[in-house]
Amino acid sequence: MASPAPNFSEFNLVHPLHYAERGYPHDTWEWLRKNDPVYYWEETEGMPFWAITKHADITTIGKLPSKFHNGPNLTISHLPREDNDFPPTLIQLDPPKHGVFRRLISKRFTPRALLRFHEDIDKIGKEIVDNLVQNEEGECDFVSEVSAPLPIAVIAWMLGLPREDWNLLFDWTNRIIGAGDPDFAVEGKTPTEAAQATMTELFMYFSQLVDEKRKSPGDDLVSLFTQFEVDGEKLTQMDVLAWCLIIVIAGNETTRNATTGGMLAFIQNQNELRRLQNEPGLLSNAVEEVVRWTTPIIHFGRTATEDFQLRDKMIRKDDVLALFYPSANRDEEVFDDPYTFRIDRDPNPHLGFGVGEHFCLGAHLARLEMEVAYKYLLPRIAEVELIGEPDRLHSSLVGGVKHLPIRYRLNSV
Ligand code: HEM
Repeated sequence: MASPAPNFSEFNLVHPLHYAERGYPHDTWEWLRKNDPVYYWEETEGMPFWAITKHADITTIGKLPSKFHNGPNLTISHLPREDNDFPPTLIQLDPPKHGVFRRLISKRFTPRALLRFHEDIDKIGKEIVDNLVQNEEGECDFVSEVSAPLPIAVIAWMLGLPREDWNLLFDWTNRIIGAGDPDFAVEGKTPTEAAQATMTELFMYFSQLVDEKRKSPGDDLVSLFTQFEVDGEKLTQMDVLAWCLIIVIAGNETTRNATTGGMLAFIQNQNELRRLQNEPGLLSNAVEEVVRWTTPIIHFGRTATEDFQLRDKMIRKDDVLALFYPSANRDEEVFDDPYTFRIDRDPNPHLGFGVGEHFCLGAHLARLEMEVAYKYLLPRIAEVELIGEPDRLHSSLVGGVKHLPIRYRLNSV
C-alpha cells in the first residue's frame, strides 16, 4: 500500500525558514521519489514549479541545456518574483553563449591546472588549522575558525585581493547568500533588496580592483578576466564584473557548508572518523562522501524552452523546474544504504556538484580545499563532540550551518 503523502504545507520546499528550523526534508523528498517524482508544487505564494527529485531525471535535465534553461529562473523563491538589473553570470547563461564563456576559464580549474596552486592552498589550509590546534583542548565555533575562513582565503588569493580585504569578501557573501536570514536582515528592505544593496557594494569594490589590474596585471583571476576576448573583442566591464561575482559567490558558501557538514558527520559517525585516521588513503573518497552527504546546493531552477514529456507528466514550455540535488543523492535506486555516511563509498556518482552543462567549475578546487582542511585536522583529533545545536542558515538555495559549536581534545604531537 502506498504510504500517505506528507503534509506539503508544513514544509515548503523553497521556504528558507523551514530549512533553518528543520534541516533538509528527506522524508518529503523520499516520498516524492517513490510516489510522484515529477510533482507540480503549487503549495507556495511564489511561482509554482515542478519538483524533480530522482537522480535519473536531474541527470536527464542537466544534460539537455537547450531544452532547460538556467537564465530565466535559476533560483526559485517562496515569494513572488522580484527582478534585478545585474548582468547574468556564467551560471545564468544558456547555449550557445554559455559554452563560449565557460571555455574562457575552464582550463584554469582542471586538476592539472590547479597543481601549481597546491602548495599555496596547502599553506593557507595549514595556517588556518594551526590557529585552531594551538591548544591541546578547547571549544570553538568550527565554522568561524575553519570552514568559513578557508574558502574565503583561497578565493580571495586566487582573485588577487590584497590580504587586508579578505574579510570584506566574507561579509559580502554572507549577506548575499544569507539575505533571507534574520542575522543579515536589513530594516526596511526585503531580502532581495538587501542582497542587491550588498551586490552593489561588491560591484563597486571589484570595479576599482578591475581598473587596477588592467593597469598592472598579475598572475591572478581578475587580471585574467580583463584579458578575456570573445570574437576578437575584449569583454565589457560588466562582463568582467560578472566573472568576479560568480567566483566569489559560488566558491565560498558551498565549500564552507560542505566542510562544516562533513565535520558534523564525523562527529555523529565517530567510527568513520577513526577509520579515516587509520586509513588516510581514504581521504579523497571521504571528501566525495562528504559532498554527497551534505549536498550544500539544495536546488537550482530550470525553465523549459519547449514541451517535454518526463515520466508520466507533460512539462509545458516556460514551466519552471526545481532540481533537488540532495534528494538525488539519497536516491535508493542509485546508492546502497543512502542514509549511511560511509567514507569508503565507491562508486559514488553523487550530483552534489551538479551534472551536465553547468557541472561545477570549482569542483576540483573545492575537493582540494576540503582535503587540506581534513588532512591537517582530523588525524589530530582524539575526542570531539558537539556542545550546542548546529545553527542553520535561512536559505532554500544553500543548506548552511552558521555556527557549529564543538569541544575537542587533540592527540599530542
Ligand atoms: C563543495 C563545494 C561546492 C559545491 C557543492 C558546488 C555545487 C555546484 C553546483 C550544484 C553547480 C551546478 C549549477 C547548476 O546546476 O546550474 C555549480 C556550478 C558552479 N560552481 Fe560550484 N560548488 C562548489 C564549489 C565551487 C567553487 C570552490 C567554485 C569556485 C570557482 C565554484 C564555482 C562554480 C561555478 C562558476 C559554477 C557555474 C558553472 C557553469 O554554469 O558552467 N563552485 N556548483
